[in-house]
Amino acid sequence: MTTNQVPYGYDNFGFTTEQVHAGEVVDAQFGARIAPIYLTAGFLFDSFDHARERFAGNDGGLVYSRYANPTNTAVEAKLTALERGVDSLLVASGQAAITVALLGILRSGDHFLSTPSLYEGSKTLFRENFERFGIEVEFVDDPHDIDDWKRRVRPNTRAVYGETIPNPKNDLIDIGLIADFARQEGLPFIIDSTASTPYLIRPIEHGATIVVHSASKFLSGHGASLAGVVVDGGNFDWARYPEKFPQFSTPIGGAGSPGSPTLVEKFGNRAYLEYTRSVIAGRLGPVLSPLNAFLLQQGLETLSLRVERHSRNSLVVARWLEAQPEVSSVDYPGLASNPSHDLAVKYYPRGTGSVFGFTLEGGQNDARTVIDALQLFSRMSHMGDVRSLVLHPGTTSHAHLSEAERVKLGILPGLVRLSVGIEDEADLLADLELAFAVLRSAPGARGTASADQIVGAR
Ligand SMILES: Cc1ncc(COP(=O)(O)O)c(C=O)c1O
Repeated sequence: MTTNQVPYGYDNFGFTTEQVHAGEVVDAQFGARIAPIYLTAGFLFDSFDHARERFAGNDGGLVYSRYANPTNTAVEAKLTALERGVDSLLVASGQAAITVALLGILRSGDHFLSTPSLYEGSKTLFRENFERFGIEVEFVDDPHDIDDWKRRVRPNTRAVYGETIPNPKNDLIDIGLIADFARQEGLPFIIDSTASTPYLIRPIEHGATIVVHSASKFLSGHGASLAGVVVDGGNFDWARYPEKFPQFSTPIGGAGSPGSPTLVEKFGNRAYLEYTRSVIAGRLGPVLSPLNAFLLQQGLETLSLRVERHSRNSLVVARWLEAQPEVSSVDYPGLASNPSHDLAVKYYPRGTGSVFGFTLEGGQNDARTVIDALQLFSRMSHMGDVRSLVLHPGTTSHAHLSEAERVKLGILPGLVRLSVGIEDEADLLADLELAFAVLRSAPGARGTASADQIVGAR
Protein backbone atom coordinates (compact mmCIF):
# COMPACT_ATOMS: atom_id res chain seq x y z
CA MET A 1 0.00 0.00 0.00
CA THR A 2 1.44 3.37 -0.94
CA THR A 3 0.30 6.90 -0.36
CA ASN A 4 1.10 10.12 -2.17
CA GLN A 5 2.78 8.53 -5.16
CA VAL A 6 2.25 11.79 -7.00
CA PRO A 7 3.81 14.77 -5.26
CA TYR A 8 0.63 16.61 -4.39
CA GLY A 9 0.98 19.67 -2.25
CA TYR A 10 3.74 21.39 -4.18
CA ASP A 11 1.70 23.39 -6.68
CA ASN A 12 1.94 20.66 -9.29
CA PHE A 13 -1.86 20.70 -9.50
CA GLY A 14 -4.73 23.07 -8.88
CA PHE A 15 -6.58 23.05 -5.55
CA THR A 16 -9.53 21.06 -6.85
CA THR A 17 -7.31 18.36 -8.34
CA GLU A 18 -5.40 18.10 -5.08
CA GLN A 19 -8.50 17.90 -2.91
CA VAL A 20 -9.62 14.87 -4.94
CA HIS A 21 -6.31 13.06 -5.28
CA ALA A 22 -3.84 14.07 -2.57
CA GLY A 23 -3.28 11.35 0.00
CA GLU A 24 -5.22 8.75 -1.92
CA VAL A 25 -4.34 5.16 -1.18
CA VAL A 26 -3.85 2.50 -3.82
CA ASP A 27 -5.37 -0.67 -2.42
CA ALA A 28 -3.02 -3.45 -3.54
CA GLN A 29 -5.43 -6.30 -2.67
CA PHE A 30 -8.75 -5.32 -4.34
CA GLY A 31 -7.97 -2.10 -6.19
CA ALA A 32 -10.56 -0.18 -4.14
CA ARG A 33 -10.51 3.31 -5.65
CA ILE A 34 -11.36 5.14 -2.42
CA ALA A 35 -9.41 4.74 0.83
CA PRO A 36 -11.57 2.17 2.66
CA ILE A 37 -12.87 2.41 6.20
CA TYR A 38 -10.41 0.39 8.26
CA LEU A 39 -12.56 -0.24 11.31
CA THR A 40 -9.99 -2.10 13.36
CA ALA A 41 -8.64 -1.42 16.81
CA GLY A 42 -5.23 -2.92 16.18
CA PHE A 43 -2.93 -4.43 13.55
CA LEU A 44 -1.48 -7.93 13.37
CA PHE A 45 2.14 -8.63 14.26
CA ASP A 46 3.74 -11.53 12.35
CA SER A 47 5.92 -12.66 15.22
CA PHE A 48 7.38 -11.87 18.60
CA ASP A 49 10.21 -9.89 17.00
CA HIS A 50 7.86 -8.10 14.64
CA ALA A 51 5.78 -6.85 17.59
CA ARG A 52 8.91 -5.61 19.34
CA GLU A 53 10.07 -3.76 16.21
CA ARG A 54 6.65 -2.16 15.76
CA PHE A 55 6.59 -0.93 19.33
CA ALA A 56 10.08 0.46 18.92
CA GLY A 57 8.83 2.35 15.84
CA ASN A 58 11.49 0.70 13.69
CA ASP A 59 9.45 -0.62 10.74
CA GLY A 60 7.00 2.25 10.27
CA GLY A 61 4.01 -0.10 10.60
CA LEU A 62 0.86 0.40 12.62
CA VAL A 63 0.25 -0.72 16.18
CA TYR A 64 -3.09 0.52 17.45
CA SER A 65 -5.77 2.88 16.08
CA ARG A 66 -5.40 5.32 18.96
CA TYR A 67 -2.10 6.35 17.36
CA ALA A 68 -2.73 5.85 13.65
CA ASN A 69 -5.19 4.13 11.31
CA PRO A 70 -4.88 3.79 7.50
CA THR A 71 -8.18 5.59 6.75
CA ASN A 72 -7.18 8.47 9.00
CA THR A 73 -3.65 8.51 7.57
CA ALA A 74 -5.00 8.95 4.03
CA VAL A 75 -7.17 11.90 5.11
CA GLU A 76 -4.32 13.40 7.13
CA ALA A 77 -2.10 13.26 4.03
CA LYS A 78 -4.78 15.07 2.02
CA LEU A 79 -5.10 17.80 4.63
CA THR A 80 -1.32 18.15 4.97
CA ALA A 81 -1.10 18.72 1.21
CA LEU A 82 -4.02 21.16 1.10
CA GLU A 83 -2.63 23.24 3.98
CA ARG A 84 1.00 23.06 2.77
CA GLY A 85 2.06 21.59 6.10
CA VAL A 86 4.49 18.75 6.86
CA ASP A 87 2.15 16.46 8.84
CA SER A 88 -1.38 16.35 10.28
CA LEU A 89 -3.32 14.68 13.05
CA LEU A 90 -7.03 13.91 12.97
CA VAL A 91 -8.93 13.98 16.24
CA ALA A 92 -12.52 13.62 17.36
CA SER A 93 -13.68 17.27 17.12
CA GLY A 94 -12.54 20.82 16.64
CA GLN A 95 -12.39 21.29 20.40
CA ALA A 96 -10.12 18.25 20.66
CA ALA A 97 -7.89 19.70 17.92
CA ILE A 98 -7.52 23.02 19.75
CA THR A 99 -6.87 21.25 23.05
CA VAL A 100 -4.22 18.81 21.83
CA ALA A 101 -2.59 21.42 19.58
CA LEU A 102 -2.01 23.68 22.56
CA LEU A 103 -1.12 20.90 25.01
CA GLY A 104 1.60 19.82 22.56
CA ILE A 105 3.26 23.13 23.43
CA LEU A 106 2.00 24.29 26.84
CA ARG A 107 2.31 22.90 30.33
CA SER A 108 1.27 24.02 33.79
CA GLY A 109 2.77 27.42 34.61
CA ASP A 110 2.76 28.61 31.00
CA HIS A 111 1.00 31.65 29.61
CA PHE A 112 -0.22 32.32 26.09
CA LEU A 113 -1.60 35.28 24.20
CA SER A 114 -4.72 35.32 22.07
CA THR A 115 -6.67 37.58 19.78
CA PRO A 116 -9.84 38.77 21.52
CA SER A 117 -12.37 37.67 18.93
CA LEU A 118 -12.69 33.88 19.08
CA TYR A 119 -15.25 31.10 18.95
CA GLU A 120 -16.92 31.27 22.38
CA GLY A 121 -16.21 27.57 23.01
CA SER A 122 -12.48 28.25 22.66
CA LYS A 123 -12.68 31.16 25.05
CA THR A 124 -14.39 29.14 27.76
CA LEU A 125 -11.98 26.24 27.13
CA PHE A 126 -9.04 28.59 27.70
CA ARG A 127 -10.51 30.58 30.57
CA GLU A 128 -11.99 27.72 32.55
CA ASN A 129 -10.43 24.37 31.57
CA PHE A 130 -6.93 25.54 30.74
CA GLU A 131 -6.93 27.66 33.86
CA ARG A 132 -7.51 24.47 35.86
CA PHE A 133 -4.49 22.92 34.11
CA GLY A 134 -2.41 25.88 35.37
CA ILE A 135 -2.20 27.43 31.88
CA GLU A 136 -3.09 31.10 31.65
CA VAL A 137 -4.59 32.81 28.62
CA GLU A 138 -4.39 36.57 28.08
CA PHE A 139 -6.42 38.33 25.39
CA VAL A 140 -4.99 41.41 23.71
CA ASP A 141 -7.38 44.35 23.37
CA ASP A 142 -6.39 45.34 19.86
CA PRO A 143 -4.91 42.57 17.68
CA HIS A 144 -3.80 45.14 15.08
CA ASP A 145 -1.58 46.94 17.61
CA ILE A 146 1.76 45.12 17.86
CA ASP A 147 2.65 47.11 21.00
CA ASP A 148 -0.42 45.63 22.67
CA TRP A 149 1.01 42.15 21.93
CA LYS A 150 4.58 43.04 22.89
CA ARG A 151 3.83 44.53 26.28
CA ARG A 152 2.00 41.37 27.33
CA VAL A 153 4.87 38.96 26.61
CA ARG A 154 6.19 37.45 29.86
CA PRO A 155 9.11 35.11 30.59
CA ASN A 156 6.61 32.21 30.66
CA THR A 157 4.73 33.13 27.45
CA ARG A 158 4.81 30.14 25.11
CA ALA A 159 2.32 30.65 22.27
CA VAL A 160 0.18 33.03 20.27
CA TYR A 161 -3.35 32.05 19.25
CA GLY A 162 -5.92 33.44 16.82
CA GLU A 163 -8.64 32.69 14.26
CA THR A 164 -8.71 33.46 10.55
CA ILE A 165 -12.36 34.58 10.24
CA PRO A 166 -13.88 34.96 13.69
CA ASN A 167 -17.64 34.73 13.81
CA PRO A 168 -20.15 36.29 14.16
CA LYS A 169 -18.39 39.68 13.75
CA ASN A 170 -15.90 38.63 11.02
CA ASP A 171 -13.35 41.08 12.45
CA LEU A 172 -10.36 39.79 10.49
CA ILE A 173 -6.86 39.73 11.92
CA ASP A 174 -3.71 40.58 10.00
CA ILE A 175 -2.19 37.11 9.99
CA GLY A 176 1.20 38.16 8.58
CA LEU A 177 1.57 40.93 11.18
CA ILE A 178 0.86 38.59 14.11
CA ALA A 179 3.03 35.83 12.61
CA ASP A 180 5.96 38.29 12.38
CA PHE A 181 5.48 39.32 15.99
CA ALA A 182 5.35 35.68 17.12
CA ARG A 183 8.48 34.79 15.15
CA GLN A 184 10.41 37.72 16.60
CA GLU A 185 9.42 36.65 20.12
CA GLY A 186 10.32 32.99 19.47
CA LEU A 187 6.70 31.87 19.91
CA PRO A 188 4.66 29.45 17.80
CA PHE A 189 1.51 30.92 16.24
CA ILE A 190 -1.50 28.59 16.29
CA ILE A 191 -4.45 29.58 14.17
CA ASP A 192 -7.97 28.19 13.92
CA SER A 193 -8.88 28.25 10.22
CA THR A 194 -12.29 26.57 10.56
CA ALA A 195 -14.25 29.37 8.92
CA SER A 196 -11.85 29.84 6.03
CA THR A 197 -10.55 26.38 5.05
CA PRO A 198 -7.38 26.01 2.95
CA TYR A 199 -9.40 26.94 -0.13
CA LEU A 200 -9.69 30.53 1.08
CA ILE A 201 -6.38 30.85 2.93
CA ARG A 202 -3.35 28.78 3.86
CA PRO A 203 -2.17 30.37 7.11
CA ILE A 204 1.16 28.50 7.02
CA GLU A 205 2.05 30.42 3.85
CA HIS A 206 1.54 33.62 5.87
CA GLY A 207 3.84 32.50 8.70
CA ALA A 208 1.52 30.56 11.04
CA THR A 209 3.14 27.59 12.77
CA ILE A 210 0.16 25.29 13.36
CA VAL A 211 -3.31 25.28 11.81
CA VAL A 212 -6.31 23.76 13.55
CA HIS A 213 -9.79 23.16 12.21
CA SER A 214 -13.11 22.03 13.39
CA ALA A 215 -13.43 19.63 10.44
CA SER A 216 -17.08 19.21 11.48
CA LYS A 217 -17.83 22.38 9.48
CA PHE A 218 -16.79 23.20 5.91
CA LEU A 219 -14.15 20.45 5.58
CA SER A 220 -16.78 17.72 6.11
CA GLY A 221 -19.45 20.03 4.77
CA HIS A 222 -22.60 18.00 5.24
CA GLY A 223 -23.25 18.35 8.93
CA ALA A 224 -23.18 14.61 9.53
CA SER A 225 -20.15 14.10 11.75
CA LEU A 226 -17.68 15.81 14.03
CA ALA A 227 -13.93 15.87 13.42
CA GLY A 228 -10.89 18.02 14.08
CA VAL A 229 -7.44 18.36 12.60
CA VAL A 230 -4.07 19.76 13.66
CA VAL A 231 -1.69 20.62 10.82
CA ASP A 232 1.99 21.19 11.52
CA GLY A 233 3.66 23.84 9.34
CA GLY A 234 7.10 22.38 10.15
CA ASN A 235 8.46 25.94 10.14
CA PHE A 236 9.24 26.52 13.83
CA ASP A 237 12.73 25.91 15.16
CA TRP A 238 11.84 24.13 18.43
CA ALA A 239 15.44 23.11 19.13
CA ARG A 240 16.46 26.77 19.22
CA TYR A 241 14.49 27.25 22.46
CA PRO A 242 15.26 24.19 24.63
CA GLU A 243 14.29 25.98 27.87
CA LYS A 244 10.93 27.07 26.53
CA PHE A 245 10.01 23.80 24.80
CA PRO A 246 12.04 21.08 26.54
CA GLN A 247 9.80 18.28 25.23
CA PHE A 248 11.46 18.55 21.81
CA SER A 249 15.06 18.74 22.97
CA THR A 250 15.22 16.12 25.74
CA PRO A 251 16.24 12.56 24.87
CA ILE A 252 13.20 10.45 23.97
CA GLY A 253 12.36 8.53 27.13
CA GLY A 254 13.32 11.50 29.32
CA ALA A 255 16.43 12.84 30.97
CA GLY A 256 17.19 9.33 32.24
CA SER A 257 17.76 8.09 28.68
CA PRO A 258 21.08 9.66 27.69
CA GLY A 259 22.15 8.65 24.21
CA SER A 260 18.58 8.51 22.89
CA PRO A 261 17.87 11.04 20.15
CA THR A 262 15.61 14.01 20.89
CA LEU A 263 12.31 14.37 19.02
CA VAL A 264 13.85 17.01 16.78
CA GLU A 265 16.83 14.78 16.03
CA LYS A 266 14.59 11.82 15.23
CA PHE A 267 11.70 13.52 13.42
CA GLY A 268 13.16 16.81 12.18
CA ASN A 269 10.51 19.39 11.29
CA ARG A 270 7.74 16.90 12.14
CA ALA A 271 8.78 16.76 15.82
CA TYR A 272 5.83 18.82 17.08
CA LEU A 273 3.22 16.70 15.30
CA GLU A 274 4.87 13.47 16.38
CA TYR A 275 4.85 14.61 20.01
CA THR A 276 1.24 15.80 19.80
CA ARG A 277 0.18 12.52 18.17
CA SER A 278 1.94 10.08 20.44
CA VAL A 279 2.29 11.83 23.78
CA ILE A 280 -0.75 14.16 23.85
CA ALA A 281 -3.58 12.79 21.66
CA GLY A 282 -2.32 9.20 21.89
CA ARG A 283 -2.53 9.29 25.68
CA LEU A 284 -5.51 11.57 26.26
CA GLY A 285 -7.32 9.57 23.58
CA PRO A 286 -9.69 11.86 21.56
CA VAL A 287 -9.40 9.57 18.53
CA LEU A 288 -11.37 10.12 15.32
CA SER A 289 -13.28 7.04 14.26
CA PRO A 290 -12.19 5.82 10.78
CA LEU A 291 -15.87 5.99 9.85
CA ASN A 292 -15.92 9.73 10.52
CA ALA A 293 -12.54 10.11 8.80
CA PHE A 294 -14.10 8.51 5.72
CA LEU A 295 -17.01 10.98 5.83
CA LEU A 296 -14.48 13.81 6.11
CA GLN A 297 -12.60 12.40 3.13
CA GLN A 298 -15.83 12.44 1.08
CA GLY A 299 -16.43 16.04 2.07
CA LEU A 300 -12.90 17.19 1.28
CA GLU A 301 -13.19 15.99 -2.30
CA THR A 302 -15.75 18.76 -3.03
CA LEU A 303 -14.41 21.44 -0.68
CA SER A 304 -13.50 24.09 -3.25
CA LEU A 305 -16.80 23.72 -5.11
CA ARG A 306 -18.80 24.17 -1.95
CA VAL A 307 -16.75 27.01 -0.45
CA GLU A 308 -16.80 28.90 -3.74
CA ARG A 309 -20.60 28.63 -3.79
CA HIS A 310 -20.92 29.42 -0.04
CA SER A 311 -18.87 32.59 -0.54
CA ARG A 312 -20.75 33.68 -3.67
CA ASN A 313 -24.14 33.18 -1.99
CA SER A 314 -22.92 35.03 1.11
CA LEU A 315 -21.90 38.10 -0.82
CA VAL A 316 -25.33 38.19 -2.50
CA VAL A 317 -27.11 37.75 0.86
CA ALA A 318 -24.87 40.32 2.59
CA ARG A 319 -25.54 42.89 -0.16
CA TRP A 320 -29.28 42.26 0.09
CA LEU A 321 -29.24 42.63 3.88
CA GLU A 322 -27.20 45.82 3.67
CA ALA A 323 -29.96 47.39 1.56
CA GLN A 324 -32.72 46.70 4.11
CA PRO A 325 -33.71 49.71 6.26
CA GLU A 326 -34.24 47.53 9.35
CA VAL A 327 -30.60 46.37 9.25
CA SER A 328 -28.07 48.62 10.98
CA SER A 329 -24.95 46.61 10.12
CA VAL A 330 -23.81 43.56 8.16
CA ASP A 331 -20.56 41.98 9.37
CA TYR A 332 -19.33 40.60 6.07
CA PRO A 333 -15.79 41.62 5.02
CA GLY A 334 -16.60 41.00 1.36
CA LEU A 335 -18.65 44.24 1.50
CA ALA A 336 -16.66 47.34 0.61
CA SER A 337 -18.27 49.13 3.56
CA ASN A 338 -16.94 46.62 6.12
CA PRO A 339 -14.04 47.68 8.40
CA SER A 340 -12.20 44.42 7.55
CA HIS A 341 -12.57 44.85 3.80
CA ASP A 342 -8.90 45.81 3.20
CA LEU A 343 -7.75 42.67 5.04
CA ALA A 344 -10.27 40.64 3.05
CA VAL A 345 -8.76 41.93 -0.19
CA LYS A 346 -5.23 41.24 1.09
CA TYR A 347 -5.74 37.73 2.46
CA TYR A 348 -8.95 36.31 0.96
CA PRO A 349 -9.03 36.83 -2.81
CA ARG A 350 -11.40 33.84 -3.19
CA GLY A 351 -13.96 35.15 -0.71
CA THR A 352 -14.45 35.49 3.04
CA GLY A 353 -16.57 32.50 3.80
CA SER A 354 -20.17 32.35 4.78
CA VAL A 355 -20.64 32.72 8.54
CA PHE A 356 -21.49 36.25 9.56
CA GLY A 357 -23.84 38.38 11.58
CA PHE A 358 -26.19 41.22 10.80
CA THR A 359 -27.87 43.49 13.31
CA LEU A 360 -31.53 44.43 13.29
CA GLU A 361 -32.16 47.88 14.65
CA GLY A 362 -35.32 46.67 16.37
CA GLY A 363 -33.32 44.46 18.74
CA GLN A 364 -34.22 41.05 20.08
CA ASN A 365 -37.92 41.17 19.18
CA ASP A 366 -37.10 41.78 15.54
CA ALA A 367 -34.43 39.07 15.64
CA ARG A 368 -37.00 36.65 17.02
CA THR A 369 -39.52 37.57 14.32
CA VAL A 370 -37.04 37.15 11.47
CA ILE A 371 -35.54 33.93 12.82
CA ASP A 372 -38.95 32.35 13.41
CA ALA A 373 -40.21 33.42 9.97
CA LEU A 374 -37.31 31.87 8.02
CA GLN A 375 -38.26 28.59 6.43
CA LEU A 376 -35.26 27.53 4.37
CA PHE A 377 -32.68 28.47 7.00
CA SER A 378 -32.44 25.89 9.79
CA ARG A 379 -32.36 27.22 13.35
CA MET A 380 -29.21 25.42 14.46
CA SER A 381 -25.94 25.67 16.37
CA HIS A 382 -23.52 24.68 13.63
CA MET A 383 -21.85 26.29 10.62
CA GLY A 384 -20.22 25.48 7.31
CA ASP A 385 -23.03 23.10 6.37
CA VAL A 386 -24.40 22.80 2.83
CA ARG A 387 -27.71 23.91 4.40
CA SER A 388 -28.24 27.53 5.42
CA LEU A 389 -28.43 27.99 9.18
CA VAL A 390 -29.49 30.78 11.52
CA LEU A 391 -28.85 31.50 15.22
CA HIS A 392 -29.36 34.32 17.72
CA PRO A 393 -25.97 34.51 19.50
CA GLY A 394 -27.21 36.79 22.30
CA THR A 395 -29.59 34.15 23.68
CA THR A 396 -27.63 31.01 22.70
CA SER A 397 -23.86 30.80 22.11
CA HIS A 398 -23.16 34.04 24.02
CA ALA A 399 -26.01 33.87 26.56
CA HIS A 400 -23.62 33.09 29.43
CA LEU A 401 -21.92 36.48 29.06
CA SER A 402 -23.05 39.65 30.80
CA GLU A 403 -24.82 42.30 28.75
CA ALA A 404 -21.71 44.52 29.01
CA GLU A 405 -19.46 41.70 27.74
CA ARG A 406 -21.78 41.07 24.81
CA VAL A 407 -21.86 44.76 23.91
CA LYS A 408 -18.05 44.85 24.02
CA LEU A 409 -17.98 41.99 21.50
CA GLY A 410 -20.58 43.66 19.30
CA ILE A 411 -23.17 41.00 20.15
CA LEU A 412 -26.17 43.33 20.34
CA PRO A 413 -29.73 42.08 21.00
CA GLY A 414 -30.61 42.46 17.31
CA LEU A 415 -27.62 40.42 16.04
CA VAL A 416 -28.55 37.42 13.91
CA ARG A 417 -25.88 34.93 12.76
CA LEU A 418 -26.14 33.23 9.41
CA SER A 419 -24.21 30.33 7.99
CA VAL A 420 -25.10 30.65 4.33
CA GLY A 421 -25.38 27.31 2.54
CA ILE A 422 -25.03 26.25 -1.07
CA GLU A 423 -28.73 26.45 -2.01
CA ASP A 424 -29.81 28.55 -5.01
CA GLU A 425 -29.32 32.22 -4.24
CA ALA A 426 -32.83 33.11 -5.46
CA ASP A 427 -34.34 30.74 -2.91
CA LEU A 428 -32.22 32.15 -0.09
CA LEU A 429 -33.22 35.69 -0.98
CA ALA A 430 -36.87 34.68 -1.25
CA ASP A 431 -36.73 33.20 2.24
CA LEU A 432 -35.15 36.36 3.67
CA GLU A 433 -37.63 38.53 1.80
CA LEU A 434 -40.45 36.56 3.32
CA ALA A 435 -39.01 36.92 6.83
CA PHE A 436 -38.55 40.66 6.39
CA ALA A 437 -42.10 40.92 5.00
CA VAL A 438 -43.32 39.33 8.24
CA LEU A 439 -41.26 41.87 10.16
CA ARG A 440 -42.89 44.70 8.22
CA SER A 441 -46.36 43.24 8.29
CA ALA A 442 -47.63 45.47 11.04
CA PRO A 443 -45.80 48.79 11.29
CA GLY A 444 -45.59 49.82 14.92
CA ALA A 445 -46.43 46.30 16.04
CA ARG A 446 -43.91 44.38 13.97
CA GLY A 447 -44.23 40.77 13.14
CA THR A 448 -47.85 39.98 13.80
CA ALA A 449 -48.42 38.16 10.50
CA SER A 450 -47.03 34.67 10.18
CA ALA A 451 -44.91 33.59 7.25
CA ASP A 452 -47.78 31.35 6.10
CA GLN A 453 -50.18 34.31 6.10
CA ILE A 454 -47.74 36.38 4.03
CA VAL A 455 -47.24 33.55 1.54
CA GLY A 456 -51.00 33.00 1.40
CA ALA A 457 -51.61 36.68 0.73
CA ARG A 458 -49.19 36.74 -2.22
C1 LIG B 1 -14.10 28.43 14.92
C2 LIG B 1 -14.43 27.17 15.63
N1 LIG B 1 -13.45 26.42 16.14
C3 LIG B 1 -13.70 25.28 16.81
C4 LIG B 1 -14.99 24.83 16.98
C5 LIG B 1 -15.24 23.55 17.73
O1 LIG B 1 -15.48 22.54 16.82
P1 LIG B 1 -16.24 21.17 17.16
O2 LIG B 1 -17.67 21.53 17.32
O3 LIG B 1 -15.96 20.32 15.98
O4 LIG B 1 -15.65 20.65 18.41
C6 LIG B 1 -16.04 25.56 16.44
C7 LIG B 1 -17.42 25.08 16.62
O5 LIG B 1 -18.38 25.75 16.27
C8 LIG B 1 -15.76 26.77 15.76
O6 LIG B 1 -16.74 27.51 15.25
